[in-house]
Order: sequence, then structure tokens, then C-alpha cells
Amino acid sequence: MASVFRAQQQQNALLWRELVRRPGSVGAICASSRRLAACMASHIDPHPDAPSVVVELGGGTGAITAALRASGLPASRLVVVEHSASLAQHLRQRFEGVCVIHGDAADLPRMLRGGDWPADEAGRPLPIAQIVSGLPLLSIPLPARRRILAAGIQALPAQGRLIQFTYALRAPSPWQQAGLQLLSRERVVFNLPPARVDVLAHPVQSSR
Ligand SMILES: C[S@@+](CC[C@H](N)C(=O)[O-])C[C@H]1O[C@@H](n2cnc3c(N)ncnc32)[C@H](O)[C@@H]1O
Repeated sequence: MASVFRAQQQQNALLWRELVRRPGSVGAICASSRRLAACMASHIDPHPDAPSVVVELGGGTGAITAALRASGLPASRLVVVEHSASLAQHLRQRFEGVCVIHGDAADLPRMLRGGDWPADEAGRPLPIAQIVSGLPLLSIPLPARRRILAAGIQALPAQGRLIQFTYALRAPSPWQQAGLQLLSRERVVFNLPPARVDVLAHPVQSSR
């Protein structure tokens, strides 16, 4: 128990260092709680029929990454995008075999074509099945937020799900405002501060 607490304190210390350097980009006073991380991970399918990857945007210190791995998702099927060089380095050390890309979530469609992305035996990049986001969208300036939203929507497959947490319990999801459809919404009170988990997808096209 004491070692779990110590590990959590170390993760928070890392996050606080980044928070001082880049407050708007971190947008959190603590790493996500285990409850919040488990709630996020409960919405992904760790063993899809076809080979694919789950992408986590804004991995931070790895609270959600750990929950995704604990859900049974293999390391080779997980891509984490993190903007901070030191946090990306930390994630690489903490999660062996996970593809950690140091970059901007707004470049996601380009990353898919890059050399770092996991590929199948024929060298083709594995498609994205689902996107999990811990990005602090509401504290990211509007022009950058718009680019991230456009990139996420472009990269999300037709049948895919995008899972986002927010501390703004009543605000509409920026993903919804950008065109995704809200499928479900859940509050997680055991988090500092309490959070909301939204599950979104492309709107279903009505066939005429
Ligand atoms: C609120 S923290 C969440 C960390 C972790 N997922 C958690 O739940 O504890 C947000 C993270 O998003 C990262 N981030 C912010 N803007 C980003 C961007 N444009 N692209 C990739 N990561 C970004 C920050 O560096 C930070 O690590």
C-alpha cells in the first residue's frame, strides 16, 4: 500500500513539474485516479477481431496507459501521443513495448503514415480502432484545440469510439461541438477533481 502511494506521489511530482512549465497544456492538478483510468479503459475492446491499435492522446504520467494495459490490451497494440518531451521519455521507460510518440495530437493523421507507427507483417500501418483522450481540451487555446479536434475526427474510423474525460461536468463536449455524436456519459466522483467520461462516435448516416 505504501509503495502504491509513493508511486502515485512520484507521478504527481512529475506532472506538477510540467504544470509549472506549461500550465495550459497539462490542465490538471493530479494524475487521473485509478477509478477514472479504469472507467476510461472499460470502454475499449482489448481484443478486437482485426489487428488494430488504440491511441491515447496526452498520456501524461501514464495513469490511463496503465489501466489500458491492465484491461488486457497488448503493449504492441497501444500508441501514446504526448507533447511533453520529459513525459514522453517517462512513458517509454514505464511501458516497455508501447509505441510512445513525442508529438502534437493535432498531427495524428500524419503520425499514422510515419515510421514510428506499429505495422503489420507486410509493413502496413495498423489502423486505429479507438481513441482515448486525456487532453485538457478546454484549457488549450482555441486555434490549437480546433486543429486537435479536426485531426481526431479525421483519424477516428467510422465504427470507432472516442473516449474523453473532462473536469467540466456540465459543459458540452468540444468533440460534440465539432461534429461527433455523444453515445454515453458517466461521472467519476473518486477523482481530484471529480470528472466526467464521454464516449463519442461519428454520427450514424441515415440511408435514404
Ligand atoms: C490532464 S494531463 C492527463 C495525463 C494522464 N492521461 C492522466 O489522465 O493522468 C494532459 C496531458 O496532455 C498532454 N498534452 C497537452 N496538449 C497536447 C497535445 N497537443 N498533444 C499531445 N499531448 C498533449 C500534456 O502534456 C499532459 O501530459
